[in-house]
Amino acid sequence: MAGAKNSVLKLMAAALLAEGTTVITNCPAILDVPLMADVLIGLGCSVELTGDRATITTPAELSHEADFPAVGRLRASVCVLGPLMGRCHRARVALPGGDAIGSRPLDMHQSGLRALGATMSIEHGMVVGQADQLRGAQIGLDFPSVGATENILMAAVLAQGTTVIDNAAREPEIIDLAAMLGQMGAKIVGAGSATITIEGVEALHPTEHRTVGDRVVGGTWAFAAGVTRGSVVVHGIDARHLAAPLERLLQAGAAVDVLDDGFAIEMPRRPRAVDFITMPYPGFPTDLQPMALALAAVADGHSLITENVFEARFRFVDELIRMGADARTDGHHASLRGRANLSSAPVWSTDIRAGAGLVLAGLVAEGITEVHEVGHIDRGYPRFVEDLQSLGAQIERVAG
Ligand code: UD1
Repeated sequence: MAGAKNSVLKLMAAALLAEGTTVITNCPAILDVPLMADVLIGLGCSVELTGDRATITTPAELSHEADFPAVGRLRASVCVLGPLMGRCHRARVALPGGDAIGSRPLDMHQSGLRALGATMSIEHGMVVGQADQLRGAQIGLDFPSVGATENILMAAVLAQGTTVIDNAAREPEIIDLAAMLGQMGAKIVGAGSATITIEGVEALHPTEHRTVGDRVVGGTWAFAAGVTRGSVVVHGIDARHLAAPLERLLQAGAAVDVLDDGFAIEMPRRPRAVDFITMPYPGFPTDLQPMALALAAVADGHSLITENVFEARFRFVDELIRMGADARTDGHHASLRGRANLSSAPVWSTDIRAGAGLVLAGLVAEGITEVHEVGHIDRGYPRFVEDLQSLGAQIERVAG
């Protein structure tokens, strides 16, 4: 299992915080990594991507303005905001593009940076920040936003004094980022809990850091076993990071063995219907919600799926209905009566995870399913088709 997309992009941004050469290993071969490299290059870094290594050299003087094509193509580019504020005390970052999974405002990113003493505004499609000096502060987030926690963290490491983030996101990727920042000389306590305390330091130094394994990709393979009544062994991730999804799959009838560096899963029968409620970590991840819907579409019985993180993620349900799923949505609930069989249809991915979920449904649909817009999948899954082929799937990449 390669490193996590949702970690590596932030680790790359963190390299902006220290002058010199930072090395990040276990980088996944996904499209978003070279896009993030372009963002860093636009800010004045040099970046070399070889195999699973990103070597990033950050100059003494950085540009504080990120407004070039790569920024618009990558939602995670907004995570350069915190490092730029920390390092340069000013930033102009174009509002990013990314997935069509619902509105993704930046109010908590901005209010957190304001609490640290910055003035923040949105001007002509750019987030603009300016500060004479960042000062530590007590910050309570309204929702444990992953991106806001990361940006505040990356600004606070170079602020004067102590910052406390309450209701912080607790995702393993936050722990990974805090670990790398700690290796760079930052003083952070509590990453992985709801309260993170950061004592600002004068400067950070470069480091070498290995990206945590991708729990969402690992979870996708777990659901692939569940949907197809197959078996999969996943190495290179910490199964504890998937406690909630594996627990649900157990309830659906799977046998799960936790390994030192992953897990083995087998679904010996048609899955039983189970309910899913997406929540911030350690709850069931919204990024695996499409896979849960694919499972519910073929499960024995009625499932209720509740989406609490991104409201527009249920667009995916319409595609599943094209494949014969018996599903309806109402607000942030989707209700499915599982069918013994789905039928193939041409379907369109709307984002990375929806694309993967459609492929899982296609694996068990009668006939040949054509999944369009698969470029989305390349943004988050290295070797997606090849890995499925090696698991015995009949899948072929024909274009795009
Ligand atoms: C990250 C992940 C994404 C994952 C999500 C939730 C990356 C690159 N992406 O996205 O795959 O699905 O976490 O686990 O790491 N919100 C606000 N105001 C803000 C910030 C967020 O209202 O200032 C809302 C969002 O609209 C959303 C919710 O908070 O409804 C969660 O967003 P957040 O945790 O920030 O997700 P991202 O960091 O964008």
